[in-house]
Amino acid sequence: MKLNDDQKMMLDGGRGEGARIAMEMIVAIANVYGAEDLIPIKSAHCAGLSLKSHGLAGMRWVEDMAAKGARVVVPTTMNVVGVDRSRDLGLPKDWVEPQMRIEKGYEAMGCFGTSSCVPYYYSFLPKFGEHIAWAESSAVVFTNSVLGARDNREGGPSAWAAGVTGYTPNYGLHLDENRRGGIRFDITCDINGIADYGAMGNFIGKMVGEKIPVLVGLDKFKPTTEELVYMGAAMASAGGVAMFHAVGVTPEAPTVEAAFGGIKDYDTVEFGKKELEQGYHNLTCGKSRDVDFVAIGCPHMSLNQVRQIAEMLDGKHIKDDVTMWVHTNMAIKAMARELGYLQKIEDAGAVLTQDLCVVLSCPEVLGFHTLATQSPKMAFYAPGNNGFDVWYGSEEKCVKAALTGRWED
Ligand code: F3S
Repeated sequence: MKLNDDQKMMLDGGRGEGARIAMEMIVAIANVYGAEDLIPIKSAHCAGLSLKSHGLAGMRWVEDMAAKGARVVVPTTMNVVGVDRSRDLGLPKDWVEPQMRIEKGYEAMGCFGTSSCVPYYYSFLPKFGEHIAWAESSAVVFTNSVLGARDNREGGPSAWAAGVTGYTPNYGLHLDENRRGGIRFDITCDINGIADYGAMGNFIGKMVGEKIPVLVGLDKFKPTTEELVYMGAAMASAGGVAMFHAVGVTPEAPTVEAAFGGIKDYDTVEFGKKELEQGYHNLTCGKSRDVDFVAIGCPHMSLNQVRQIAEMLDGKHIKDDVTMWVHTNMAIKAMARELGYLQKIEDAGAVLTQDLCVVLSCPEVLGFHTLATQSPKMAFYAPGNNGFDVWYGSEEKCVKAALTGRWED
């Protein structure tokens, strides 16, 4: 494998022990994937920062790397964590304290302590064609597909190592030939709202595994950014999807031919009403219709989504024995506060959380059993990760469940 002088210097410890270890990791990954060289990146996004992922050993590793002088050299953001630093949600002290130490460790290495899975909503927006090293599967599929940036599905440690060295191995989705579509889906039913996009993403992700799906017929629905975010998150959780093309919607798919990059012998699947219903079915495992926990905003909500929820809750009050968490990050929450949306949400008895991820936190210790959500990713992971029974559907249904304590079809 070819290394330039800068890379060799780091590998020889010329930038300190922390950077040497990071470069050693990058070279090892490059060798595993057969990359011929390393390429410079514009930004990195570290994921897996929750205590659930790191454990105490991981916490000590982060602190050790910071003490060994590892410092990021490109803008490096942090993914969600398992606490809300702005408030006490009742989570155990022996969970909160180590989680805060993990965050502090990454911040000491120069990462932005913004802790969100949607850093592209607030100032960290990769450009078309830019090479980046982001972890967090929902963010990776969004940056590749919707923005046209070039990113592999990094793990937390490899994204960290890329942030510290400024390089990533040149393989996978950094190369043109690996960004071509692998299977075609003809959309023949109506797709309306985020829950439909999530159900569709789940069905497709489950079916394609790691292939790049090409969606034909989505352009007529003019999907919003948030709908594409949720569809991608669903594909990435149900399968290993790191990129999709939507013809007439995403930048590398102006035509079907462009999306497939000249390949002609691909399979075509019709995606209709039956497949959409199957997606909903895959994401629902509720038994009792009595809901005690409503959590929405996974990936974190945009300002527009927060405003819609504030308007739905305006002047109402959620049922006494129901807890409702609406998830976003500190930047959007700060704007929501200024604009009065936060007040409406809090007046209704709901909580607008900051930088928190339900799946990577431990809300189950608070005694909840049945979750209602509009998130295809949370609905996919929460039964296994948190032990919840789950009802999956639109924001309107989730808000109604919060107000009444009942899930209705
Ligand atoms: Fe974000 Fe956690 Fe959901 S990382 S996409 S809030 S599972």
